[in-house]
Amino acid sequence: MSHAIIGFGKIGQALAKAFARKGIDVSVATTRDPESFASAAAAIGPMITPKTLAEAVKADIVFLAVRFDAHPDVAKALPTWQGKTIIDVTNAYGVPPEEHHEKFIRKLYTYAEGQGLDTDEFVSMFSDDGYMLDMASGTKFRGKAIGDSIAALASAFPDVHRELLSIYVAENVVIVEIAIRGTHKGELALASGTLAPTGKSIDAPVCDIYHLEGGKIISFHCYNLPSVMLQQIEQKDMRLS
Ligand SMILES: NC(=O)c1ccc[n+]([C@@H]2O[C@H](COP(=O)([O-])OP(=O)(O)OC[C@H]3O[C@@H](n4cnc5c(N)ncnc54)[C@H](OP(=O)(O)O)[C@@H]3O)[C@@H](O)[C@H]2O)c1
Repeated sequence: MSHAIIGFGKIGQALAKAFARKGIDVSVATTRDPESFASAAAAIGPMITPKTLAEAVKADIVFLAVRFDAHPDVAKALPTWQGKTIIDVTNAYGVPPEEHHEKFIRKLYTYAEGQGLDTDEFVSMFSDDGYMLDMASGTKFRGKAIGDSIAALASAFPDVHRELLSIYVAENVVIVEIAIRGTHKGELALASGTLAPTGKSIDAPVCDIYHLEGGKIISFHCYNLPSVMLQQIEQKDMRLS
């Protein structure tokens, strides 16, 4: 039976000391290169082996000793956790739900960036019935269609960046004021057809409102101003959708 501790902070190190006292081999991992915490591991004892996260999660018994918010990242280290024994020491004690909600939504935007676009991850943050409503056109997107609409904008503006100007959290509602910026370098789908790249830049105001439930987005209302965007790329008489 092999053991691993994921997270080598206060709790991870305390656990490693307990293993060392009992003379049981255990591997330890963080997000960092194992070399970077090799001396701290060696100081605890020779049975503590620093490994990469990918290697450590192969153990039969995994102790999860990361901050609560990091558990979804650890989960991605394996395609399936079936058959493993997980001892989860994480807890969200003392962290207000609003803090989780803000971090969660900030993370969502990282998946919509031109650099780092990941529409699967973006969509995975919605519940099965969760939707995105484009207020300007009245179009509601669900599932893969949410990702497609995010990808379409990134394809027209490959350097698209959403500057998060302010975030307000009230219980399970998150409101984000944004400036959406980018350069029109790809084809842009409009109601009237496709617009070839103009090379112009946009800097358009957007307000997004999210409702969260059970750690997922159940609704995302996107209040945007396509007219401003089109004016900035000097297509004043066209409609986006
Ligand atoms: N401290 C306590 O008294 C106490 C008591 C009971 C329960 N807990 C719970 O135990 C958990 C750990 O607490 P702690 O005080 O040990 O936290 P900590 O000192 O902040 O340590 C967290 C560790 O997790 C690593 N980590 C972060 N993200 C990771 C990822 N995605 N994959 C792998 N490793 C990752 C960090 O390393 P890098 O950032 O360098 O990768 C660090 O080594 C928390 O959930 C806490 O609520 C703590």
